[in-house]
Amino acid sequence: RSPQYPFLHHQSLQPVRKLPDALVIGVKKGGTRALLEFIRLHPDVRAAGSEVHFFDRFYLKGYHWYRKKMPPTLEGQITLEKTPSYFVVQEVPKRVYEMNPDIKLLVVVRDPVTRAISDYTQVISKNTSVPKFEDLAFQNGSQFGLVDTTWAPIRIGVYVRHLERWLHYFPLNQIHFVSGERLIVDPAAEIANVQTFLGLKQVITEKHFYFNTTKGFHCLKKSEGHSSPHCLGKTKGRNHPSIDATAIERLREFYRPFNARFYQVTGINFGWP
Ligand code: A3P
Repeated sequence: RSPQYPFLHHQSLQPVRKLPDALVIGVKKGGTRALLEFIRLHPDVRAAGSEVHFFDRFYLKGYHWYRKKMPPTLEGQITLEKTPSYFVVQEVPKRVYEMNPDIKLLVVVRDPVTRAISDYTQVISKNTSVPKFEDLAFQNGSQFGLVDTTWAPIRIGVYVRHLERWLHYFPLNQIHFVSGERLIVDPAAEIANVQTFLGLKQVITEKHFYFNTTKGFHCLKKSEGHSSPHCLGKTKGRNHPSIDATAIERLREFYRPFNARFYQVTGINFGWP
């Protein structure tokens, strides 16, 4: 037997930090935390716990810095990171492509109107003196004004615009879309598709989830670092304020053509109202 054999064998068992093989690039409030927490239960996935913001905020720190933010992995394990702002920041697709043109990209999308309200709910949870949603969503603070597309909660939901920037660099088959709505009602089914996309064995199944009636969402029976059942934190699954029905209808009209183009480009009908 070769004397090198045990040495090489030993080396392959050493965990190493790698640059990511896959990224959850968005969208903010789509259900990105749920996706990450669910897929990282898989033994062949290791994920950075917090949002790294390398490609949008800390790019100048370089790949060495980025790699150090990644969890140690064993051979065959996928390294994953999620930073939802990547989807909408102009410079990001090119930077990701330059690092790894074969990287796999995941995007959780959700009805842009609900997403905007969810985003706004997050804003008011931190600052209660913010104007009403209806006043921010329309120009001149009036529902009779045009939709204010410069307001981030509105702008982020024009998914097709952002996607087109990614498609300058990546083919569509390198991008997997998760339905934020289906992730809420049937997480196991959405995670099954994610496992297929990432080339993983089907390990995460409905057996990992239970519906928590108090929370009103699915929670995990157990996960990495949790031997007991647990739900996502209090900031996930918040109650939304009630928004004027006319304002909602106007926003639906605004998004309708963008959604239609998004369905066309992705080849998926997400069924948003
Ligand atoms: P709301 O708080 O508006 O309901 P993100 O992690 O991208 O910020 O997305 C947050 C959203 O994830 C939540 O928005 C919630 O609807 C959704 N979500 C999906 N599955 C969930 C789960 N099992 N538990 C809690 N929130 C979940």
